Amino acid sequence: MPATVPHILMCPPDYYGIEYEINPWMSRGRQVDRPQAIEQWRALKRLLEKCGARVSLLPPVDGLPDLVFTANAAMIYQHTAVLANFRHQQRQGETPHARAWLQGAGFDVVLAPTGTCFEGAGDALFCGETLFAGYRIRSDARGMQQVGQLIGTRVIPLELVDPYFYHLDTCFCPLSATQAIWHPAAFDTYARQALAAHVEQLIEVSEDEARSFACNAVVVGRNVLTNTGCPGLHAALTDLGYTTQATPLAEFVKAGGSAKCLTLRLDGEEAAAWK
Ligand code: ARG
Repeated sequence: MPATVPHILMCPPDYYGIEYEINPWMSRGRQVDRPQAIEQWRALKRLLEKCGARVSLLPPVDGLPDLVFTANAAMIYQHTAVLANFRHQQRQGETPHARAWLQGAGFDVVLAPTGTCFEGAGDALFCGETLFAGYRIRSDARGMQQVGQLIGTRVIPLELVDPYFYHLDTCFCPLSATQAIWHPAAFDTYARQALAAHVEQLIEVSEDEARSFACNAVVVGRNVLTNTGCPGLHAALTDLGYTTQATPLAEFVKAGGSAKCLTLRLDGEEAAAWK
């Protein structure tokens, strides 16, 4: 089987800023330092390329400050991209741009189930054969089951209970088919039990490091990239044989995002059994 190059979609932060408040991290009173954000974004892109990834760019759009968070554009399954249907009106204008890019790139683009909110790879992550689906704060549980039916995959819905961890990718990160990073306090009891039952090895992060977006990691092969401020997680991952990299992303934390949110893996996440 030919080795494929990891392929990631990013969007330059030319128009990134805090123009509205749709999660508890965001405050219009705490603005982004744009040059600093550009510097941090470029450093992340360089690191991903150093890990062997090819990065494609979604053109930035004036008036869509959160378009940088490409993880939310869609969920990728083989040649299918299930488009996001954002809960907040402020982000709904992103969808036509994501759609046009994904179609141009050759994906079969399908809409999220009618009448349900769905925030793409921010809330839908494959670990092995299973699609883990965060719901309640941004995406709807019903829509997630329909997405699972559409692609013929079992879905494990996970209820998110902490507004600071409003997307699944802020509190859960599959590393391989059997290993994942998580922050248990972000989930309800049933979700915690479901994760413990379905993922062989869960690596727990502390509240402190979770708030530094430790779980919002990008996995490329055996490399794991995160924001700075996650030394405990990095030590645990090093023990498991991963190569870790920390890169400052504080400007993006101001919007409630970090490394993983800034990327959409187009060829399938490392942990997805289907790839
Ligand atoms: N400000 C954005 C929002 O609240 C941040 C999105 C972060 N993306 C993610 N995949 N967690 O929607």
